Amino acid sequence: MATKLTELLQIKHPIIQAPMFLVSNVAMVQEAMKGGIAGCIPALNYRTLDELRDALKLLKRTKVNGGAFGFNLIVNKSNVKYKEQLKVICEEGCDFIITSLGSPEETINQAHRVGIKVFCDVTDLNFAKKVEGLGADAIIAVNNEAGGHRGNISPKELIETISKNCEIPVISAGGVGCKADIDKMLGYGAAGVSVGSPFIASEEANVTNEYKQACVDYGAEDIVITERISGTPCTVINTPYVQKIGTKSTWIENLLNKNKKLKKWVKMIRFSIGMNTTKNAATKATYKTVWVAGPSIEHTNAILPVKEIIKKLVN
Ligand SMILES: Cc1cc2nc3c(=O)[nH]c(=O)nc-3n(C[C@H](O)[C@H](O)[C@H](O)COP(=O)(O)O)c2cc1C
Repeated sequence: MATKLTELLQIKHPIIQAPMFLVSNVAMVQEAMKGGIAGCIPALNYRTLDELRDALKLLKRTKVNGGAFGFNLIVNKSNVKYKEQLKVICEEGCDFIITSLGSPEETINQAHRVGIKVFCDVTDLNFAKKVEGLGADAIIAVNNEAGGHRGNISPKELIETISKNCEIPVISAGGVGCKADIDKMLGYGAAGVSVGSPFIASEEANVTNEYKQACVDYGAEDIVITERISGTPCTVINTPYVQKIGTKSTWIENLLNKNKKLKKWVKMIRFSIGMNTTKNAATKATYKTVWVAGPSIEHTNAILPVKEIIKKLVN
C-alpha cells in the first residue's frame, strides 16, 4: 500500500503505532518495525535523559528495513524537560518526531538540521496551516474519535478540510481499529493513520493485564470523556470507579478556578493528582481504575502480540 507516508518514512504500510504515555515502549516499536509500520514513543515515558538515550541507541541498532521509529515531544511549558529531550533526540537521531501541544518551531528547526522529519499533532485547520508554514513534514490530524486528548472534529471533515488546504501529507489519528477504518481514512484523503488504543492490549505493552483486559472487555460505547485527569478533557473507560468519582471537575475546583491567582495552582494540583492516579491505574493493582483509551478498542477481542495486531490492521 504505497502512500505519501510510506514514501516519507520508507515503510511498508501507511501506519504509525501512536505514542502513548505510560504504554509505548521499545519492544512495541521493535515489533512495529518488523511488521512494516512506524512506531513512536513519548519522550516522557523515560524518567531520565540517559534512559531516553539508551532507548534511541537500542532502536537504532535494531531498526529493520520497511520500518521506522520516532519519539513524541510535548513542546509546551508543561514539559520542563523539553529542550533537553530535543537535544538528546537530535544527538542520537531517529526517523521522525511527533510534536504535541505548543509551537513546534524550535523542534522543526533543530530536527531538520540533523535530518529528522517532524510531524505535528493538530486538531483544526488553523493550526495545520501554522505548522505547515513552520516547515512541518506532515500533519497528524487528531479527530473526535481519538483516544487520550482528542479533537472536536470528525475524521472525514478534518481530513478533507486539511488536505484541501495544505500541501503536506495528512496522517489521521483516531478511531482506527481495523482494515476497513484505514481504507475509510485513506478514502477521505489521508496519507496514513496513527493508531494508539488498539495497541494497549498488546503483549509487549508496559501496562497491567487488568488494563489490557479492560480494552478487550469494554467497547466504544464505554468510552467517556473526563476532566478529572489533567483538567483537559481526556477519554477513559467508564469503569465503576470512573462512574463513582464522576467526569466533571469538582465544585471546589470550579470555584477556585474563578480566582485568577489561584487558577494556576488548582490546575497544577489537578494535573499532578490526575497523572498519579493514571500512572497507578496503568502500572499497579488498584481499585482506582482510570484507564485511558479511545473508542477504537471496539475491535480489540484479545490480548495479542503487536505482530498480530498489525496483521489485523493490514489484512
Ligand atoms: C493511553 C493513551 C496515551 C496517549 N498518550 C499520548 C502522548 O503521550 N502524546 C501524544 O501526543 N498523544 C498521546 N495519545 C494519543 C495518541 O498518540 C493517538 O493520537 C491516539 O491514540 C489516536 O487515537 P486511537 O486511540 O483511536 O488510535 C495517547 C493515547 C492513548 C490512548
